[in-house]
Amino acid sequence: MDLNRTKILGTGKYHPAQIKTNLDIAKTVDTSDEWIVQRTGIKERRIGDISKDEGPSGMAARAAKIAIENAGLEPNDIDLILFSVTFPDTMFPNTASWLQEKLGITNKCGALDINAACTGWVYGLTMANALIQTGTHKHILLVGTEMGSAFVNWEDRNTCVLFGDGSGAVVLGASESTDSSVIIDSILGSDSSKKESLILPKGGAVAPIRQDVLDKNEQWMSMDGQIVFKNAVKTMASHCAKLLKRNKMTMDDIDWFIPHQANLRIIEATGNLLKCPEEKVIINVEKYANTSSASIPAALHEAVEDGRIKRGDTLLFAAFGAGLTSGATLLKF
Ligand code: ACO
Repeated sequence: MDLNRTKILGTGKYHPAQIKTNLDIAKTVDTSDEWIVQRTGIKERRIGDISKDEGPSGMAARAAKIAIENAGLEPNDIDLILFSVTFPDTMFPNTASWLQEKLGITNKCGALDINAACTGWVYGLTMANALIQTGTHKHILLVGTEMGSAFVNWEDRNTCVLFGDGSGAVVLGASESTDSSVIIDSILGSDSSKKESLILPKGGAVAPIRQDVLDKNEQWMSMDGQIVFKNAVKTMASHCAKLLKRNKMTMDDIDWFIPHQANLRIIEATGNLLKCPEEKVIINVEKYANTSSASIPAALHEAVEDGRIKRGDTLLFAAFGAGLTSGATLLKF
């Protein structure tokens, strides 16, 4: 069976207008702009406003409309929605179904949420690639959209400084035989032995949020930052090195490296391990903080829009998140 080659047809992003600076956070918890910038590189983050429909599906609809338009398509050309989301609109129906309606898609296409935390969008890219390759789907909308602001404890300085809200989207389809754009290879992984180092333990079926959870103020995410940090750097670098090696490439062949935008120190340490020149690394964490699975597609769109990333460039994505999930993708844009 001849397989199609998958291409990113169009990109989009959306970040809410409301800005929360480090100084804003320092008014309510014991932290400082200096500490946050030094340890994370983050200066500010965006916060979604539900009254403006800036929940996950609302942000995704704005990013997806741009991606669909950039792909030269109409919403009803989409035949599958894959929605990476850690903080969904509702437990069910899935956020992809809310999005289908907000995009005015009436063709009743499939709509699926993916939860692999910050790695979810890269997982989705691997899944979408396979579906386009086999020809079962023609135009897949893949979004990563997160509203971490709704789930962090704004009184916990260990976590609240790290996260922001936003959305990134791409439309994927088959590339023409003459076109060099193609998803080349990808790696996915998860180390469940460390799953408790980044966790939202309450609110699921095994521990629903009841009065006792609220009384103990246990309804928030918790994180062991140092375990996450060390494993993020080690795993993203090793996935990338493996991908390059098995495709007989080196960092010299990569035009742009887009790592998950969790924290500037994680990005720099990963780049150093890969011996990736700084000027090849796309970074926007200072403006948006960690937008979880939205961070790579939003950074991709930003760099396409401002002309850094061009058609034919070779890109390397690396992601890491709760699970502890991980993944990397190598592609020609
Ligand atoms: N402001 C001021 N002080 C703080 C803050 C804050 N916001 N947060 C923690 N501290 C304090 C701690 O309480 C600790 O104080 P102590 O020494 O009196 O106990 C001190 O700062 C040092 O804490 P460390 O945890 O050692 O600081 P570290 O240098 O490890 O930085 C950080 C913490 C930024 C969380 C880091 O571990 C990190 O970036 N980890 C990765 C976390 C991450 O990116 N998570 C996102 C989700 S997963 C992902 O996207 C990959």
